[in-house]
Amino acid sequence: MALYLRPSPAVMGHHLNLEVLRRHGSRLLQLLDLARAEVSVVLLDDAEMAAYNEQYRKKKGPTNVLAFPVEHEAGAVLPEAELGDILVSVDTARREATAEGVSLHHRITRLVIHGLLHLIGYDHERSEDEALHMWDFEQQLEERLYTSRRTNMPYLSINVDHVATIRQARGGVEPDPVQAAGICELAGADGIVVHLREDRRHIQDRDVRLLRQTVKTKLNLEMATTAEIIDIAVEIVPDLVTLVPEKRKELTTEGGLDVVENAKKVTKAIAKLRKAGIPVSVFIDPDATQIQAALDAGAAFVELHTGRYCEARTEVEVDEQFRLIEQSAELAQEAGLRVNAGHGLDYRNVGPIADLPAIEELSIGHAVISRAVLVGLDRAVREMLAVVRGM
Ligand code: PXP
Repeated sequence: MALYLRPSPAVMGHHLNLEVLRRHGSRLLQLLDLARAEVSVVLLDDAEMAAYNEQYRKKKGPTNVLAFPVEHEAGAVLPEAELGDILVSVDTARREATAEGVSLHHRITRLVIHGLLHLIGYDHERSEDEALHMWDFEQQLEERLYTSRRTNMPYLSINVDHVATIRQARGGVEPDPVQAAGICELAGADGIVVHLREDRRHIQDRDVRLLRQTVKTKLNLEMATTAEIIDIAVEIVPDLVTLVPEKRKELTTEGGLDVVENAKKVTKAIAKLRKAGIPVSVFIDPDATQIQAALDAGAAFVELHTGRYCEARTEVEVDEQFRLIEQSAELAQEAGLRVNAGHGLDYRNVGPIADLPAIEELSIGHAVISRAVLVGLDRAVREMLAVVRGM
């Protein structure tokens, strides 16, 4: 049993991330101890909502949410019960979201909370007291929904590209990034990241194929939106693909992917990868328009570029860049995206970023591999884990 989302064809133009709404819905049912209940949420446009409003409430025009509880015998709601239907007008939700300065997904989620409370017997029209009580409970549920991950430490994924950089310096077979990945995992890393570049300057096809077979945690494949690399990803099915921009002459990824400018290409790449069962993250600058574009393109995650924060030299500049990351992480999470971060993070600057509750995972390469050259990979990973986990 679960929360079923039924979008009407009329709301397709809103670019809804149904996965995000479904996740919020299931979490809400859990918070209400109704994880095994069944609820149907129908997403409509204003015209469709107005028709229901007229038919069932004899009221003209659309409304934001309507709830139709299933009648249960003697008023008892069983944990496995079918609770009923919630109708949400996405057009109205979008207007309300704009007025409140929140994301569309945030507003729809709030309306679903309101509808769910109606389904389990709350009714703000019965009395002023009940209206206040219902509003309080809605508020509480919303807070618990958005803060439920905040007690967790972020995961740490290690990027082993530069092990391959050293190997490629001599064009031989050592050191092997596949062996390095095993050592990182044994030291406690939560995942392995590699960037298969078009120019194959470090990671090779053989590395990615072997890592797919040997990585026991999670394999995150960074790649550009090029047809050749997309085909490789579809073939090997990593646990996550992170789309990054790529320039031949750059020393490392220089900035975030401009999803606004490349919306069509990114949307197409994400659709193809999702069809192959691969969740997709996009590496973007901490910027509200890029976050919205990532959501519209169908991404499940964003990885926020921490490079400018890491390169900032004055205290004012560090603070400014940090605030941008903090706000963007919250905004993305609120919009229903999962949030990773990385680039340029090291043992000294990672602490404040690791403390941001909205960030799920950090991707760190250069600092750990550099330290590993001097103190050993196992120790370098363990030391980074200790900093990230605040131990
Ligand atoms: N995230 C992305 C998207 C990257 O391109 C890189 C660099 O390959 C990293 C994280 C890791 O950056 P660094 O090597 O500076 O830790």
